[in-house]
Amino acid sequence: MLLDALRSRVSEVQDVIAAGPIVPRVTPDEIRRDLASRYDFTKPLALPDVVADVEQMLQRWQVHVTHPRYFGLFNPSVTFASIVADTLVAMYNPQLATWRTSPAANEIERHTLTWLAGKFGLPAESAASFTSGGAEANLSAVVVALTRAFPDYGEHGLRALPAQPTVYLTAEAHHSLSKIAHMTGLGRRAIRTVAIDGDLRMDLDDLARRVAEDRRDGLAPFMVVGTAGTTAAGAIDPLPDLARFCRSEGLWFHVDAAWGGAAILAPSLRGHLAGIDAADSITCDAHKWFSVPMAAGMFFCRHPASVDEAFRVQTSYMPGKTLGPVRDPYTTSVQWSRRFIGLKLFLALTERGESGYVEMIEHQARMGEVLRDSLKRAGWRIVNATPLPLVCFTRDGLVPADFLAALYQRQIAWMSEVRPGDGAPALRACVTSFRTTEADIEWVVREMAALA
Ligand SMILES: Cc1ncc(COP(=O)(O)O)c(C=O)c1O
Repeated sequence: MLLDALRSRVSEVQDVIAAGPIVPRVTPDEIRRDLASRYDFTKPLALPDVVADVEQMLQRWQVHVTHPRYFGLFNPSVTFASIVADTLVAMYNPQLATWRTSPAANEIERHTLTWLAGKFGLPAESAASFTSGGAEANLSAVVVALTRAFPDYGEHGLRALPAQPTVYLTAEAHHSLSKIAHMTGLGRRAIRTVAIDGDLRMDLDDLARRVAEDRRDGLAPFMVVGTAGTTAAGAIDPLPDLARFCRSEGLWFHVDAAWGGAAILAPSLRGHLAGIDAADSITCDAHKWFSVPMAAGMFFCRHPASVDEAFRVQTSYMPGKTLGPVRDPYTTSVQWSRRFIGLKLFLALTERGESGYVEMIEHQARMGEVLRDSLKRAGWRIVNATPLPLVCFTRDGLVPADFLAALYQRQIAWMSEVRPGDGAPALRACVTSFRTTEADIEWVVREMAALA
């Protein structure tokens, strides 16, 4: 009964969103004045009234990332089962820090992660955990890679190392890695930017040259980050080549598949992720192409002992180590208190089944092709190459900022501006909603022609 009521409310909200504006026009002052005039927390207010008001605010004042014409930054429409999951989690508030506090939740997460690790081709004994998102998963990867490469790092820090460690990635890799270099003490200059080819993929010759040069200069290369689905243009680095290179050079191979990782389920796409099975670690976000609400990232690593070493901790105020074939997440990951993040992926996977997921992912890939073809027919120039549903495009004389302002003003769609390969600015449209249809795309492309 409760489930039916929630389903019909969610479906109502989806209809309201789909029929309404995508981009709000509001200033910070407007919202602040409004909040200050009505909410001073001095006396209790009726919850139904406040909930209705908050829903109004959310409907009026946000970019609607679940709108079928939101072609944005990997924020998906969300499956009903995953909404139910977040409601259940809030209700039971399980604490996953230790296994013993929440055996059910910990085992559901483990079960889900083990299944996906298998899809990536990682060994059964690999370590895996849910994270707040891709940035935390990338942070986990760098910390574990440092721990494995430099046994003194954990106790004595980077200052004790005889040489400066360096990480290799392209300018197209996600910029969470710059912050991570800062936060870990590596320093942002430890990031060595490798050249890219015409398709914005890492250039292996340049990688080899840089690693050799840095070694000659007394630096300590330890990690290569390949991206499977770059943020700006959806490029996939040559993963098999990178895997071979890393193996022969003794470097940690991390694959950031925050968005593109879901393609591993789809028969028409998974070949493009070949080589990911050789990764030392993988980032893959459930809150991107797996279409569940934020915040749900995942970190996979084939070296469980290194993960244990990186996040080890002991204190009397926590329950003692759980015995048996289990791991206490607060000793094997960045987080301490831990929300039951994994339920939304578990429930969504069980509700749709793998075949339902394949259908959803393949549909979006197909919509990417429809968008690409439709834009070409309308005279746009495509400036990126990827099998994933992300299109960067331009035309002579385009001023993206002006074009996007007009696009938003008329509520045609949400897209963004990028500079793939640091070249000229272009428009970027990514199919992130499993509800986007061919008709949506044809309509958007037609309306865009009128903005010329
Ligand atoms: C390739 C890639 N890696 C990492 C991230 C960071 O993920 P999150 O925003 O979930 O922290 C993103 C975000 O878009 C991304 O595209």
